[in-house]
Amino acid sequence: MKESNTLLKAEHVTMQFGGVMAVNDFNLCVSEREIVALIGPNGAGKTTAFNCITGIYKPTGGRVLFDGQVISGKSPDQITRLGIARTFQNIRLFHHLSVFDNVLIAKHMRAKQTVFSATLRLNRAEERRMREETAALLCEQGLYSHRDEMASSLPYGLQRRLEIARALATEPKLLLLDEPAAGMNPQETQELTDFIKVIRDRYHMAIFMIEHHMDLVMQISDRIYVLDFGCCIASGSAAEIQHNPRVIEAYLGVEDENA
Ligand SMILES: Nc1ncnc2c1ncn2[C@@H]1O[C@H](COP(=O)(O)OP(=O)(O)OP(=O)(O)O)[C@@H](O)[C@H]1O
Ligand SMILES: [Mg+2]
Repeated sequence: MKESNTLLKAEHVTMQFGGVMAVNDFNLCVSEREIVALIGPNGAGKTTAFNCITGIYKPTGGRVLFDGQVISGKSPDQITRLGIARTFQNIRLFHHLSVFDNVLIAKHMRAKQTVFSATLRLNRAEERRMREETAALLCEQGLYSHRDEMASSLPYGLQRRLEIARALATEPKLLLLDEPAAGMNPQETQELTDFIKVIRDRYHMAIFMIEHHMDLVMQISDRIYVLDFGCCIASGSAAEIQHNPRVIEAYLGVEDENA
């Protein structure tokens, strides 16, 4: 049974690699239209938690539910189809394709999911609609003037934006962002912060993000989870997390080179 407006739920999720307990008994809940952050020191298990949610890893313990359905054990493609999109800590784009085609391909993937055959050719009206939607997404991200450039030729901050545009093209209900502000300067980080709020409000979407930039996290998160050595050591509002002695000791109190 699905709880009222719960979109994503992790129940006792555990991921062990040999002797390394990367994620240990992690419980999490993300509701519709919520912005939730996952923070913690390097190596705490944040990306591994994302990989368990998106089907890259099958958790060695526990389970993940999305929209009331168990998704742990499903493939990344199946999970994307159910409505979870993500970006990666190390940007993953089709580097030798144009900016436009990077987003259009994601649109095609979405279209093939809603049509019955992956080999079915899309009719002209459908193709035109997808091209218009791609152009709209690029405009929204300030990328339209770069549409014909190769993805790899974009500056780093714009590549990150392109990755978000591509994730949005699959029309997810939940967007996972793994360090979206990594490598961004303070102005780009502030623009991204504003944009994440816009995404949530415009698309009525939930956002779950890993981030080391605490300004960004504290400004926009409805709730925050803190991982340390694979274990969740705290969860709560920005104010609660900022004043939690355990979090200060494990993470916030130390100078972080990524912050
Ligand atoms: N495929 C794997 N095989 C073995 N160990 C792994 C694997 N993936 C991650 N780990 C280990 O799991 C732990 C958590 O790594 P993870 O990448 O999830 O951390 P993180 O919190 O995302 O860190 P960062 O902030 O540096 O990105 C680390 O000790 C890492 O070495
Ligand atoms: Mg990581």
